[in-house]
Amino acid sequence: DKGGHKHFMAKEIFEQPVVLADCLSHYTDAGGVTLPQPLDFTQTDRVILVACGTAYYACAIAKYWFEQFAGIPCDVDIASEFRYREPPVSPKATALFVSQSGETADTLAALRYVTEKVDRVVSVVNVPSSSIARESDVALPILAGVEVGVASTKAFMNQLGVLANLAIMAARQRGRIDAVREAELLEILHGMPGLINQALALEDKIAKRTARLAEAKSVLFLGRGAMFPLAMEGALKLKEISYIHAEGYASGELKHGPIALIDKTVPVIVFAPRDALFDKTISNMQEVMARDGKVWLITDAEGAAQAGDGTWATLVMPTVDPALAPMLYAVAAQLIAYHTALHKGTDVDQPRNLAKSVTVE
Ligand code: F6R
Repeated sequence: DKGGHKHFMAKEIFEQPVVLADCLSHYTDAGGVTLPQPLDFTQTDRVILVACGTAYYACAIAKYWFEQFAGIPCDVDIASEFRYREPPVSPKATALFVSQSGETADTLAALRYVTEKVDRVVSVVNVPSSSIARESDVALPILAGVEVGVASTKAFMNQLGVLANLAIMAARQRGRIDAVREAELLEILHGMPGLINQALALEDKIAKRTARLAEAKSVLFLGRGAMFPLAMEGALKLKEISYIHAEGYASGELKHGPIALIDKTVPVIVFAPRDALFDKTISNMQEVMARDGKVWLITDAEGAAQAGDGTWATLVMPTVDPALAPMLYAVAAQLIAYHTALHKGTDVDQPRNLAKSVTVE
């Protein structure tokens, strides 16, 4: 049942405010963050995050949270690299495996590789009965409900929801933040479903611009800080369902190579809420515009005012705390990919060559 939508992917994108709110309600009580099973980060010397694909990008975003909020050194790895590289791991590490299906072969193998080596194996999964959940010490459900669309949307959102809770909890346990700051961060997190609703209301504005995107041979996504992994996720979504070549780059890397690609045929989508590094992002954008690149700036009202004219398009998102902004901007990334695919007429829910669950390596 597509719930009145044309595709499961659209249904799942529009479900996000509800499934995220439900997930968050399971992870918070009057005392702050609460987990289905206790988890203590006080003795942890490192967080190791391992996953594939979209789940990997959720981990790459969470790295910023574990480092910024909790001050814990954090490694992020692609499961297929981690398992064969045989990295040395600290026995005091907490290893975290993120998987929607809980059956991804490489992620499961990476989990088995660390099982005897680290203090604790934690998984963040959508399927609580899955192999990855069963083989971890602590399995945290993301409670997104069944995800049918091959391109992951609501599972990504809820992975971020659970990982944000974990980082906030770790920060509190390690004395990096007090109860007041914890409550503040949780308030921002719990405000997210409402902001996501507002972002979903921008669908028509987004759809209007994607006709042009559908003509592109190649699209670049840029972001700084936690928006960098979101840029990679935006590129992955677009290539998966519209078959347009796309790359996500850290804004600061532009002049180290990818700027050579820029001409008037290459749209550049910039995820940039008005934050401490916004000026730097603007100057990256200007470098693109000076080479006739078509910039689609995704920002907030303050960012749009500061950026001024000259972009090909500017989408004004609701204002959100920069720390958690990737959750909100993910909605823009999803809708851009979805509407571009509609213009191309591709099979959105069942893109060619892809499977929902990758149980072979
Ligand atoms: C992309 C996508 C894939 C999965 C990846 C991991 O939209 O869905 O990249 O994220 O195959 O799958 P899980 O999360 O089931 O381990």
